[in-house]
Amino acid sequence: MGVELAYTDAVARDTSALYRKVAKVIPEIEWPVHAPLIAEINRLKREKNAVILGHNYMTPEIFHCVSDFTGDSLALAREAARTQAAVIVQAGVHFMAETSKILSPEKTVLIPNVHAGCSLAASITGADVRLLRQRHPGLPVVTYVNTSAEVKAESDVCCTSGNAVKVVEDIAREFGTDTVIMIPDQYLARNVAAQTGVKVITWEGACEVHERFTADEIRAYRAAHPGVTVLAHPECPPDVVAEADFAGSTAAMIGYVGKHRPGRVVMITECSMSDNVAVEYPDVDFVRPCNLCPHMKRITLGGILKSLQTMTTEVLVDEAVRLPAKRAIDRMLAVKNT
Ligand code: 13P
Ligand code: SF4
Repeated sequence: MGVELAYTDAVARDTSALYRKVAKVIPEIEWPVHAPLIAEINRLKREKNAVILGHNYMTPEIFHCVSDFTGDSLALAREAARTQAAVIVQAGVHFMAETSKILSPEKTVLIPNVHAGCSLAASITGADVRLLRQRHPGLPVVTYVNTSAEVKAESDVCCTSGNAVKVVEDIAREFGTDTVIMIPDQYLARNVAAQTGVKVITWEGACEVHERFTADEIRAYRAAHPGVTVLAHPECPPDVVAEADFAGSTAAMIGYVGKHRPGRVVMITECSMSDNVAVEYPDVDFVRPCNLCPHMKRITLGGILKSLQTMTTEVLVDEAVRLPAKRAIDRMLAVKNT
């Protein structure tokens, strides 16, 4: 600590390749602010044997310049289970850091801002799940990863938006039922039910970012940009998903752009997605309406640097919670073809 961070010639040289990568989405005038932090974070990662797991909603300077692994919730969970590093810095929200700790208890898991929460995770408690089970005995509980460890611990299996359809179909078959309890995202649950034919009992949770999009808004983008391809996240309300050309997790949306290379695309999701994907696909034109996730945006380069310097804030999960939560996550990770 106490290191003077300045945009020296050495920093400019060391970070010039990174800047060329993100030049399309980060104005040149901002680079002298980011570059010294990026150089120091990358140095500290080597010194402390740390990796940064960056969610697709991180800003481009985090996503492209300091993250060792990037992806959707499912990919980051898989990486947390696999990494050999001693320290994981979660560039994402708190439930993602908890998931990493649940899967890698021997590692030090750090979150740069403990207030990086999630409206879905905040909508339900373990006691709520126990009540749901009492009300609907014998039905399997499928829990979105956007929940606390305590809620996962009460569940039969977890899912992400990337594997929800497969997880629901598999668990319904295993339990010999046509109905599952799927919590806490009412929209994801309804979108999955529409795709699977499995009935869902859900919860009144919603993502505060995706629930704000409307079907009228999508129709307006189509009218303003004829021929535009509309990609939506399944946390959006079903009438919004119905207006889209494709709905999928953040990784699935990126995969769609890579495969189909639409001339013009609009991503109905969090703001940083389009910036991050635009870096990879300069030939695609991104219409960029978006909603910001205030929780994701609490993660900054400055916060990541402080986290590595001070080794804070460490995320801990009690063993009595971790073990049943891990069972639900492992069951999800064992689902094939997701
Ligand atoms: P995925 O990255 O799994 O699609 O999730 C989106 C999200 O909102 C995570 O907070
Ligand atoms: Fe939670 Fe929505 Fe933010 Fe994702 S985008 S962290 S689901 S509030």
